[in-house]
Amino acid sequence: MSQRPQRVLTGITTSGTPHLGNYVGAVRPAITASRAPNTESFYFLADLHSLIKAQDPARTQRSTLEIAATWLAAGLDPSKVWFYRQSDVPETTELMWLLTCVAGKGILNRAHAYKAAVDKNRADGEDDDAAVTAGLFMYPVLMAADILIFNADRVPVGRDQIQHIEMARDFAQRFNHVYGRDWFNLPEAAIDDNVATLPGLDGRKMSKSYDNTIPLFVPQAQLKKLVFSILTDSKMPGEAKSTDGSALFQLYQAFATPDETAGFAAAFADGIGWGDAKQQLFDVVEREIAPMRARYEDLIAKPGDIEDILRDGGQRLRERYAIPLLRELRDAVGLRNLGSAASIPSDAPASAKAAPPAFKQYREADGKFYFKLVDGERVLLQSAAFDAPRDAGQTIARLRRGELALADAPVSLGDRVETTDVQAALDALAAAEAEKAAS
Ligand code: TRP
Repeated sequence: MSQRPQRVLTGITTSGTPHLGNYVGAVRPAITASRAPNTESFYFLADLHSLIKAQDPARTQRSTLEIAATWLAAGLDPSKVWFYRQSDVPETTELMWLLTCVAGKGILNRAHAYKAAVDKNRADGEDDDAAVTAGLFMYPVLMAADILIFNADRVPVGRDQIQHIEMARDFAQRFNHVYGRDWFNLPEAAIDDNVATLPGLDGRKMSKSYDNTIPLFVPQAQLKKLVFSILTDSKMPGEAKSTDGSALFQLYQAFATPDETAGFAAAFADGIGWGDAKQQLFDVVEREIAPMRARYEDLIAKPGDIEDILRDGGQRLRERYAIPLLRELRDAVGLRNLGSAASIPSDAPASAKAAPPAFKQYREADGKFYFKLVDGERVLLQSAAFDAPRDAGQTIARLRRGELALADAPVSLGDRVETTDVQAALDALAAAEAEKAAS
């Protein structure tokens, strides 16, 4: 691999309204990581994936807007990282099809999300695939396309997504194998085990499904109300309190400096009243969130600006990576210009394609020397007889350098070969030569 910066790619699901747990567990660490030196970071809104679950168009649009505004407000800098919307890079879905055609169906059968749906159907006495869409089934292939289209090296994900990265590697490997070259490098999952999971209002993990969340950008007064509704025990002011298993304490820790956290622990031991403790928690959360909330409100008020940012990112990415890659991949799989010279006979093995055209010199039973230009099994040029091998070699050299016109050379075209075919082969040879010289 060349010395290009590491490519780190993260897909953001565009569903729901982000809460403090998402912020501390996903958004904040990802934004910190986006500032790492020597990395090229890709952040995208996985809006195509969201259609598998969310089929209310107005909500899909709203959610995409809110999530985009959240990441921008939280400090993602679209001039330093790639920030885009999955559906703005249509080459992704085209690549998905190419991958679909090498992906093993058996592997998809074993995907956790699909298997869970089947298991549930079985438990309910339903048909295996009842209410399962093909979208859910194909989810891992679309995700592989997201990753492979930009040849990402590392993909930071939660543990539940590791299997998807393994599938992306599998599909990439199969494609590389079938089409005879390392089109894709194999991405690695990057798991951060230090990422905090925040407790919610009731002390269980903060999650929409428990209805215990603190939304990230509620107005200040509502944030305060929510913080004051966090469940605590019934200890009175003056009684020592335990930090162990205290949701209040864990939330505080996620927003405070280590010194502040130590001070807060001491206050617990000293019997701080729950009201005071909640006020202090509110203060540290508000300190961090308030400037972001202001940016968020500005952004949300101008959805057209967010649209422009996303489109610009997608457009630049397409031009830089996606369109050129798909052009190559189309050629690799044989979706080609029918008039182009590089076409190979349909009975040639796929692997023959990898070898560039070549000149072959040989001696016949008549004692004379000959050469031919071949592309795979196809003979493009056949030379006349030479008395000395040196003459054959020099003719080849002059043809390759373009010093000798085909019409003037002692050669004849192969069966159904056009001069343009020969020219293309000579060009390909020159290109292969230049590539060798450069590496
Ligand atoms: N499946 C991921 C999730 O649920 C979102 C996602 C879609 C993604 N495409 C991706 C993540 C590509 C990483 C890379 O969180």
